[in-house]
Amino acid sequence: MDVFLRRMQPDDINQTWLMYLSFEPKGEFQGLPPVTPELTREWLRKLVLDNATQFVLEIGERVIGHSMLCPGATLGEAELGIFIHQGYRGRGLGKRLLLGTLHYGCKQLALSRVWLSVQTGNTAALECFKSAGFCPVEPAGPLTWELDMQRPSHCEHCRGDECPAFRETLPRLLVIAHHPRHKPDRLS
Ligand SMILES: CC(C)(COP(=O)(O)OP(=O)(O)OC[C@H]1O[C@@H](n2cnc3c(N)ncnc32)[C@H](O)[C@@H]1OP(=O)(O)O)[C@@H](O)C(=O)NCCC(=O)NCCS
Repeated sequence: MDVFLRRMQPDDINQTWLMYLSFEPKGEFQGLPPVTPELTREWLRKLVLDNATQFVLEIGERVIGHSMLCPGATLGEAELGIFIHQGYRGRGLGKRLLLGTLHYGCKQLALSRVWLSVQTGNTAALECFKSAGFCPVEPAGPLTWELDMQRPSHCEHCRGDECPAFRETLPRLLVIAHHPRHKPDRLS
């Protein structure tokens, strides 16, 4: 299966909105897309107004993944969001979208830090973020249900080949397996 990974363009809003109509899970907790079509459209418009740098994964004309780097209050930092439609999870696409997004944030936006919040029960997301070099901002306690994670970007001492995002330039064509390696769990 061929999947194209590229920066999102203004014209992509409608196809991206269509992906979210059937996307699960929605807004159960922070970091997930809004629950209604109207709120989703507003959210997508706001991302543009807020100057988020966005990326899409597409098969043909259908958007099946979406990520964004939202500028934070501090210059050089951005909050990351990432969403793969449930029909395409567990095949390595989330990781490739994440690494492509981080590569762009590092090399094009010169970000020094990327951060996000994730629910501790969201195994797929936690594994995906950890494998791309994210670490908890503070150690998780037994009652922690939402974790802030961060990753250095535009590193002062570039690790070159050792950085998982080093070669993930955009745009690119990804070839992925038809069958998932992981069955999606409840939160993913
Ligand atoms: C989180 C999400 C983007 C991951 O995308 P994905 O395409 O399913 O993940 P991948 O197949 O690329 O896997 C990435 C890593 O996580 C691991 N992983 C994926 N699903 C897993 C699961 N259910 N259980 C354990 N590990 C899992 C993979 O082994 C892989 O690790 P590796 O690179 O070390 O081999 C996707 O599940 C998603 O959109 N979830 C709903 C929205 C969401 O939770 N977004 C994040 C909000 S903070």
